Amino acid sequence: MGMMGAACSDPCASAPTPDTGDTVPTDWTPAALSDDIPVASAAPGQLGPHDLAIWRSASGRIAAWADRCPHRGMRLSHGFVRGERLSCIYHGWGYGEGGQCVRIPAHPELTPPEAIRVPVFSVAEASGVIWVAEEAPDGPPPEFPGVVAFRSLQVSAAPEALAAALGGTGTVIETVLGGAQVVALIQPLRGGAAGLHLLAPEGSDPAALDALSAEVEALRRRVEAAEEMTA
Ligand code: FES
Repeated sequence: MGMMGAACSDPCASAPTPDTGDTVPTDWTPAALSDDIPVASAAPGQLGPHDLAIWRSASGRIAAWADRCPHRGMRLSHGFVRGERLSCIYHGWGYGEGGQCVRIPAHPELTPPEAIRVPVFSVAEASGVIWVAEEAPDGPPPEFPGVVAFRSLQVSAAPEALAAALGGTGTVIETVLGGAQVVALIQPLRGGAAGLHLLAPEGSDPAALDALSAEVEALRRRVEAAEEMTA
Protein backbone atom coordinates (compact mmCIF):
# COMPACT_ATOMS: atom_id res chain seq x y z
CA MET A 1 0.00 0.00 0.00
CA GLY A 2 1.84 3.04 -1.18
CA MET A 3 1.39 6.54 -0.02
CA MET A 4 0.05 8.97 -2.54
CA GLY A 5 3.01 11.09 -3.52
CA ALA A 6 5.98 10.76 -5.72
CA ALA A 7 9.05 9.08 -4.34
CA CYS A 8 12.10 11.30 -4.30
CA SER A 9 15.45 9.95 -5.43
CA ASP A 10 17.18 13.03 -4.05
CA PRO A 11 15.72 13.71 -0.64
CA CYS A 12 17.32 17.15 -0.50
CA ALA A 13 15.74 18.27 -3.76
CA SER A 14 13.37 21.19 -3.65
CA ALA A 15 9.69 20.58 -4.18
CA PRO A 16 8.94 20.22 -7.90
CA THR A 17 7.53 23.14 -9.78
CA PRO A 18 3.75 22.84 -9.74
CA ASP A 19 2.16 21.76 -13.00
CA THR A 20 0.32 24.51 -14.77
CA GLY A 21 -3.29 24.42 -13.72
CA ASP A 22 -2.69 22.66 -10.45
CA THR A 23 -4.83 24.20 -7.80
CA VAL A 24 -5.22 23.69 -4.11
CA PRO A 25 -8.60 22.16 -3.28
CA THR A 26 -10.57 24.26 -0.82
CA ASP A 27 -12.34 21.34 0.84
CA TRP A 28 -10.95 18.31 2.66
CA THR A 29 -8.89 16.12 0.32
CA PRO A 30 -8.07 12.47 1.06
CA ALA A 31 -4.30 12.08 1.27
CA ALA A 32 -3.67 8.64 2.79
CA LEU A 33 -5.21 5.86 4.79
CA SER A 34 -4.78 6.07 8.55
CA ASP A 35 -3.24 2.59 8.67
CA ASP A 36 -0.55 3.68 6.23
CA ILE A 37 0.85 6.17 8.78
CA PRO A 38 1.43 4.10 11.91
CA VAL A 39 2.47 5.61 15.23
CA ALA A 40 5.92 7.25 15.16
CA SER A 41 6.27 7.35 11.37
CA ALA A 42 6.31 9.86 8.52
CA ALA A 43 5.59 9.56 4.80
CA PRO A 44 5.26 11.88 1.79
CA GLY A 45 1.92 13.14 0.51
CA GLN A 46 0.46 15.79 -1.78
CA LEU A 47 -2.12 18.53 -1.70
CA GLY A 48 -2.37 20.32 -5.04
CA PRO A 49 1.07 21.82 -5.71
CA HIS A 50 2.24 21.23 -2.13
CA ASP A 51 4.46 18.36 -1.05
CA LEU A 52 3.49 17.18 2.41
CA ALA A 53 5.18 15.33 5.23
CA ILE A 54 2.37 13.42 6.89
CA TRP A 55 3.42 12.04 10.23
CA ARG A 56 2.05 10.53 13.40
CA SER A 57 3.53 11.17 16.84
CA ALA A 58 4.18 8.55 19.50
CA SER A 59 0.89 9.43 21.15
CA GLY A 60 -0.97 8.97 17.84
CA ARG A 61 -1.41 12.63 16.88
CA ILE A 62 -1.56 13.06 13.09
CA ALA A 63 -0.01 16.08 11.34
CA ALA A 64 0.51 17.31 7.78
CA TRP A 65 3.34 19.75 7.23
CA ALA A 66 5.21 21.22 4.29
CA ASP A 67 7.76 18.63 3.25
CA ARG A 68 10.72 20.94 3.54
CA CYS A 69 13.02 21.53 6.49
CA PRO A 70 13.46 25.28 7.14
CA HIS A 71 17.18 24.71 7.69
CA ARG A 72 18.43 23.46 4.31
CA GLY A 73 15.41 22.07 2.58
CA MET A 74 15.68 18.36 3.33
CA ARG A 75 12.38 16.54 2.99
CA LEU A 76 10.88 16.13 6.44
CA SER A 77 9.04 13.02 5.26
CA HIS A 78 12.46 11.35 5.42
CA GLY A 79 12.76 12.41 9.05
CA PHE A 80 12.23 10.46 12.24
CA VAL A 81 9.69 10.75 15.00
CA ARG A 82 10.71 10.91 18.63
CA GLY A 83 7.81 11.34 21.00
CA GLU A 84 5.75 14.32 19.84
CA ARG A 85 8.49 15.71 17.63
CA LEU A 86 9.48 15.24 13.98
CA SER A 87 13.20 15.56 13.43
CA CYS A 88 14.98 16.23 10.18
CA ILE A 89 17.28 13.40 9.13
CA TYR A 90 20.00 15.77 7.89
CA HIS A 91 21.16 17.82 10.91
CA GLY A 92 18.55 16.65 13.38
CA TRP A 93 16.62 19.86 13.91
CA GLY A 94 13.47 18.90 15.78
CA TYR A 95 10.00 20.37 15.19
CA GLY A 96 7.10 20.20 17.64
CA GLU A 97 3.49 21.20 17.76
CA GLY A 98 2.51 23.83 15.19
CA GLY A 99 5.70 23.17 13.21
CA GLN A 100 7.82 25.16 15.65
CA CYS A 101 11.52 24.30 15.77
CA VAL A 102 12.23 23.19 19.32
CA ARG A 103 15.70 21.69 19.12
CA ILE A 104 18.92 22.29 17.23
CA PRO A 105 21.33 19.52 18.23
CA ALA A 106 24.46 21.53 17.34
CA HIS A 107 23.32 24.20 19.83
CA PRO A 108 21.51 22.28 22.58
CA GLU A 109 21.39 25.30 24.91
CA LEU A 110 19.73 27.53 22.32
CA THR A 111 16.00 28.17 22.30
CA PRO A 112 15.28 28.25 18.55
CA PRO A 113 13.74 31.51 17.31
CA GLU A 114 9.98 31.41 16.76
CA ALA A 115 10.53 32.30 13.12
CA ILE A 116 11.94 28.82 12.49
CA ARG A 117 8.69 27.08 11.82
CA VAL A 118 7.41 24.56 9.26
CA PRO A 119 4.18 25.57 7.44
CA VAL A 120 1.36 23.45 8.79
CA PHE A 121 -1.75 22.19 6.97
CA SER A 122 -5.12 21.26 8.40
CA VAL A 123 -5.52 17.54 8.93
CA ALA A 124 -8.27 15.27 10.25
CA GLU A 125 -9.08 11.57 10.28
CA ALA A 126 -12.47 10.07 9.44
CA SER A 127 -13.51 6.61 8.25
CA GLY A 128 -9.88 5.47 8.40
CA VAL A 129 -8.79 8.18 5.95
CA ILE A 130 -6.40 11.08 6.53
CA TRP A 131 -7.86 14.26 5.06
CA VAL A 132 -5.86 17.43 4.47
CA ALA A 133 -6.64 21.03 3.57
CA GLU A 134 -4.67 24.24 3.23
CA GLU A 135 -7.11 26.20 5.36
CA ALA A 136 -9.45 24.52 7.84
CA PRO A 137 -12.77 23.87 6.02
CA ASP A 138 -16.01 24.82 7.77
CA GLY A 139 -16.95 21.31 8.86
CA PRO A 140 -15.27 17.96 9.50
CA PRO A 141 -14.43 15.56 6.65
CA PRO A 142 -17.16 13.09 5.63
CA GLU A 143 -17.85 9.82 7.43
CA PHE A 144 -18.94 6.70 5.56
CA PRO A 145 -20.82 4.25 7.75
CA GLY A 146 -20.64 0.54 6.92
CA VAL A 147 -17.31 0.69 5.11
CA VAL A 148 -13.70 0.69 6.29
CA ALA A 149 -10.48 1.87 4.70
CA PHE A 150 -9.09 -0.90 2.51
CA ARG A 151 -6.25 0.22 0.24
CA SER A 152 -4.80 3.09 -1.77
CA LEU A 153 -3.49 3.02 -5.31
CA GLN A 154 -1.90 5.58 -7.57
CA VAL A 155 -3.38 5.72 -11.08
CA SER A 156 -1.58 7.32 -14.04
CA ALA A 157 -4.70 8.92 -15.43
CA ALA A 158 -6.68 12.09 -14.90
CA PRO A 159 -9.04 12.08 -11.90
CA GLU A 160 -11.99 12.64 -14.26
CA ALA A 161 -11.08 9.53 -16.29
CA LEU A 162 -10.81 7.46 -13.12
CA ALA A 163 -14.16 8.75 -11.88
CA ALA A 164 -15.78 7.91 -15.23
CA ALA A 165 -14.36 4.37 -15.13
CA LEU A 166 -15.92 3.99 -11.69
CA GLY A 167 -19.24 5.09 -13.14
CA GLY A 168 -19.41 8.48 -11.48
CA THR A 169 -18.18 12.03 -11.36
CA GLY A 170 -16.44 14.12 -8.74
CA THR A 171 -14.18 12.85 -6.00
CA VAL A 172 -16.48 10.65 -3.90
CA ILE A 173 -18.05 7.72 -5.74
CA GLU A 174 -20.21 5.01 -4.22
CA THR A 175 -20.26 2.02 -6.55
CA VAL A 176 -20.08 -1.76 -6.83
CA LEU A 177 -16.66 -3.22 -7.53
CA GLY A 178 -15.76 -6.91 -7.47
CA GLY A 179 -19.25 -7.62 -6.17
CA ALA A 180 -18.80 -5.30 -3.17
CA GLN A 181 -20.46 -1.99 -2.40
CA VAL A 182 -17.51 0.38 -2.02
CA VAL A 183 -16.70 4.03 -1.56
CA ALA A 184 -13.98 5.33 -3.88
CA LEU A 185 -12.25 8.56 -2.89
CA ILE A 186 -10.30 10.24 -5.67
CA GLN A 187 -7.35 12.49 -4.94
CA PRO A 188 -6.02 14.75 -7.72
CA LEU A 189 -2.25 14.34 -7.99
CA ARG A 190 0.30 16.33 -9.94
CA GLY A 191 1.19 15.32 -13.47
CA GLY A 192 -2.33 14.31 -14.45
CA ALA A 193 -2.44 11.37 -12.04
CA ALA A 194 -4.92 10.39 -9.38
CA GLY A 195 -4.90 8.69 -6.02
CA LEU A 196 -7.63 6.17 -5.36
CA HIS A 197 -8.48 5.48 -1.73
CA LEU A 198 -10.89 2.59 -1.49
CA LEU A 199 -13.26 1.84 1.39
CA ALA A 200 -14.66 -1.71 1.50
CA PRO A 201 -17.64 -3.16 3.35
CA GLU A 202 -17.05 -3.70 7.04
CA GLY A 203 -16.51 -7.37 7.91
CA SER A 204 -15.55 -8.43 4.36
CA ASP A 205 -13.89 -11.84 4.32
CA PRO A 206 -10.41 -12.27 2.80
CA ALA A 207 -11.77 -13.85 -0.40
CA ALA A 208 -14.05 -10.86 -0.98
CA LEU A 209 -11.16 -8.47 -0.41
CA ASP A 210 -8.95 -10.46 -2.81
CA ALA A 211 -11.68 -10.20 -5.44
CA LEU A 212 -11.98 -6.48 -4.81
CA SER A 213 -8.22 -6.02 -5.12
CA ALA A 214 -8.14 -7.92 -8.41
CA GLU A 215 -11.02 -5.87 -9.75
CA VAL A 216 -9.55 -2.52 -8.81
CA GLU A 217 -6.17 -3.42 -10.27
CA ALA A 218 -7.85 -4.47 -13.52
CA LEU A 219 -9.72 -1.18 -13.53
CA ARG A 220 -6.47 0.72 -13.05
CA ARG A 221 -4.91 -1.10 -16.03
CA ARG A 222 -7.93 -0.31 -18.21
CA VAL A 223 -7.96 3.38 -17.27
CA GLU A 224 -4.23 3.76 -17.79
CA ALA A 225 -4.36 1.99 -21.16
CA ALA A 226 -7.19 4.25 -22.31
CA GLU A 227 -5.28 7.31 -21.10
CA GLU A 228 -2.20 6.23 -23.04
CA MET A 229 -4.21 5.84 -26.23
CA THR A 230 -5.55 9.37 -25.96
CA ALA A 231 -2.20 10.92 -25.03
S1 FES B 1 18.29 20.37 6.55
FE1 FES B 1 17.00 19.83 8.15
S2 FES B 1 18.22 20.04 9.92
FE2 FES B 1 19.48 20.69 8.31
